[in-house]
Amino acid sequence: MDGTYTQNDLTRIVEADKAHVWHHLVQHKPFESKDPNIIIEGKGMRVWNQAGKEHLDAVSGGVWTVNVGYGRERIAKAVYDQLMKLNYFAGSAGSVPGALFAEKLIEKMPGLTRVYYTNSGSEANEKAFKMIRQIAHKRYGGKKHKILFRDRDYHGTTIGCLSAGGQDERNAQYGPFAPGFVRVPHCLEYRKHEQDGAPEENYGLWAAEQIEAVILREGPDTVGGLCLEPVTAGGGVIAPPEGYWQKVQEICDKYDILLHIDEVVCGVGRTGEWFGYQHYGIKPDFVTMAKGVASGYAAIACCVTSERVFEMFKDDATDPLNYFRDISTFGGCTAGPAAAIENMAIIEDEDLLGNTVAMGDYMLDQLRALSDRHKVIGDVRGKGLFLGAELVTDRDTKEVVPEAQVQAVVADCMAQGVIIGATNRSVPGRNNTLCFSPALIAAKDDIDHIISSVDGALTRVFG
Ligand SMILES: Cc1ncc(COP(=O)(O)O)c(C=O)c1O
Repeated sequence: MDGTYTQNDLTRIVEADKAHVWHHLVQHKPFESKDPNIIIEGKGMRVWNQAGKEHLDAVSGGVWTVNVGYGRERIAKAVYDQLMKLNYFAGSAGSVPGALFAEKLIEKMPGLTRVYYTNSGSEANEKAFKMIRQIAHKRYGGKKHKILFRDRDYHGTTIGCLSAGGQDERNAQYGPFAPGFVRVPHCLEYRKHEQDGAPEENYGLWAAEQIEAVILREGPDTVGGLCLEPVTAGGGVIAPPEGYWQKVQEICDKYDILLHIDEVVCGVGRTGEWFGYQHYGIKPDFVTMAKGVASGYAAIACCVTSERVFEMFKDDATDPLNYFRDISTFGGCTAGPAAAIENMAIIEDEDLLGNTVAMGDYMLDQLRALSDRHKVIGDVRGKGLFLGAELVTDRDTKEVVPEAQVQAVVADCMAQGVIIGATNRSVPGRNNTLCFSPALIAAKDDIDHIISSVDGALTRVFG
């Protein structure tokens, strides 16, 4: 097929999909009586489905991925040229786009020096976990092997990543999990009333100190790493409170704990800086990234480390076990870094970081104005073009809106031709945050369109 489809083609495609494709994150029973949505085409911030219906995509491909928008010929051409030159060779060797993208990426990440290529965010996080474990074995007789993760954070779909998963509903029924992963409390200030002992003032400092309390309970000599999202994504779009990160950094330095920042969602521009952690002046040992690295034009993920970490894996070349004995087959695909080079160049050429800051501020203001009109919006938060609106039945008690009503808002927007997201199957009883992550190319008109569709949906669902 050449990309233009007749009605017969589309009917066949829908039938093939219904018969054979197992969609992600979806209960399939409803497809016995209705058709699944099949996205046929995308351009800029818009996509069209099999019925030819146009949608404004306010979540960059559903899961905050297509940061530079759809239909970028420049990326497609670079990928085509690279595939014709060399599509693949195992990552034990280098490649031209792999070397060039690593150089470009490291320019944006002062203090970090090494890029390990993989093919998904989960896999990138697994690499960091494995490195932390191997360092524990090499330097501490295996003792300093525990990895801390935070309530409400998500780091991926594998059993290893779910073991570091702070979203109980996402984890449910997939245990038992791997040992040696320990949870620390979340830092969502809006819900501090649900946390024992949380103070009215200086909440950020207190939330960070809760991490220290866990380290002291477990024994600092057993804790090797701390893995955090810079802004929690699917757990409720949680931007960290004032004072949080500074204290987290101090704690990691004090107890010699490697800091792993999961930038799978925030990385490469989403928050208005190249990386989310760069808003907070922290110095991670590992940074993992995936979705926005090539905006979904090719699969690519990276685990980036400091030279200090890298050095620990080559200090004794006579020992056959003393290096990172890991491979990611598709980490050797050259389409990923070829696409990532162009993706980054587009962000630079079009000043999409500047646009993200400006449009993020504008969208935040518009969401706040919306909350003046709809008291069901209890909290609006986020960073750059990565925003959330938490829905509550009562602003004083902060009682959560039933998930069915949250989903009704999403469905109403969809019916209007605007795709928004909501936290789902994530934190039990807390799947009540509408999520917005439009492409970094968003203009005021696009944001106005998204806001007015949410305005209409909230009016219809809640009156
Ligand atoms: C913060 C975070 N980390 C890791 C992942 C896993 O990435 P992937 O689905 O590419 O394995 C996700 C996916 O949504 C994520 O949101």
